[in-house]
Amino acid sequence: MGATLAVHAEGLVKHYRSRAGVVEAVRGVDLMVEGGEVFGFLGPNGAGKSTTVRMLTTLLSITSGTARVAGVEVTHEPDAARRRIGVALQEAGLDPRQTGRELLVLQGRLFGLSTRDTSARAEELLELVELEEAADRQIKGYSGGMKRRLDLASALVHEPDVLFLDEPTTGLDPASRLTVWDELRRINRRGTTVFLTTQYLEEADQLCDRLAVIDGAAGSSGKGRPHSSRPSSASARERRATQRSTTCSSTRPDAAAAASPATSRRCRRDIRVGAGTARAP
Ligand SMILES: Nc1ncnc2c1ncn2[C@@H]1O[C@H](COP(=O)(O)OP(=O)(O)OP(=O)(O)O)[C@@H](O)[C@H]1O
Ligand SMILES: [Mg+2]
Repeated sequence: MGATLAVHAEGLVKHYRSRAGVVEAVRGVDLMVEGGEVFGFLGPNGAGKSTTVRMLTTLLSITSGTARVAGVEVTHEPDAARRRIGVALQEAGLDPRQTGRELLVLQGRLFGLSTRDTSARAEELLELVELEEAADRQIKGYSGGMKRRLDLASALVHEPDVLFLDEPTTGLDPASRLTVWDELRRINRRGTTVFLTTQYLEEADQLCDRLAVIDGAAGSSGKGRPHSSRPSSASARERRATQRSTTCSSTRPDAAAAASPATSRRCRRDIRVGAGTARAP
């Protein structure tokens, strides 16, 4: 069943261990994301969004639970998983001395594309993210928004089935945010599934077919100092659902709609409360 899903996670748990104790960053997330959708993953600071993304993209070991991405079990076949996914992390790690084009070409070559294909792909992506004019300038001269867009392009070089974006518009001005939204819609129309973490309800409202709210603040055990629970936009009913065994619940978008006067194109009709699981209706 998981083979047909873009993302299928069950009971995903992450504990960070250090001398100070154990931080329970993610406490049992279940996710089912259909191929071709834009899936929003929301939650307050420290809820475990980035940790979940890192586990799903093979960048972090999974303490317990299972995750399949594009039909590939990420723990057992990390290389195969990496070939099918693209990821733009919350902190873009770009070499400031490279030009935008050089970065994309390097990325293409690392994924095994020929010189000719890499060059064509870089050109296509520079156009997609509207960086043609800046393509041959060093990245250190790019604005924050340009760096974000370049990072997005670099995640797309190998034409991934599933694109993970960790807060792609945080820190962007409203115009740059709209540009990124347009790019994401275009990328999605081309068939790429998008898994998007965001703190912006309006962003989820505008872009996402479905969403899940991760509502569990990290706690700690052992010698670590306990973390307090954080509030979230989830309703009391939804929060109760999260108290059982999971930090993740799908939610109705009422909170998003209340916070954002813009009417939702798609979310409103597609989302329902699940018992700690984000599922397609
Ligand atoms: N390397 C680490 N070592 C120990 N604890 C960590 C580590 N990385 C994250 N954490 C903790 O795990 C919890 C979840 O962090 P995470 O970065 O996944 O949250 P987030 O939802 O992405 O937050 P934000 O919205 O601020 O980006 C937090 O309590 C954080 O302090
Ligand atoms: Mg984060």
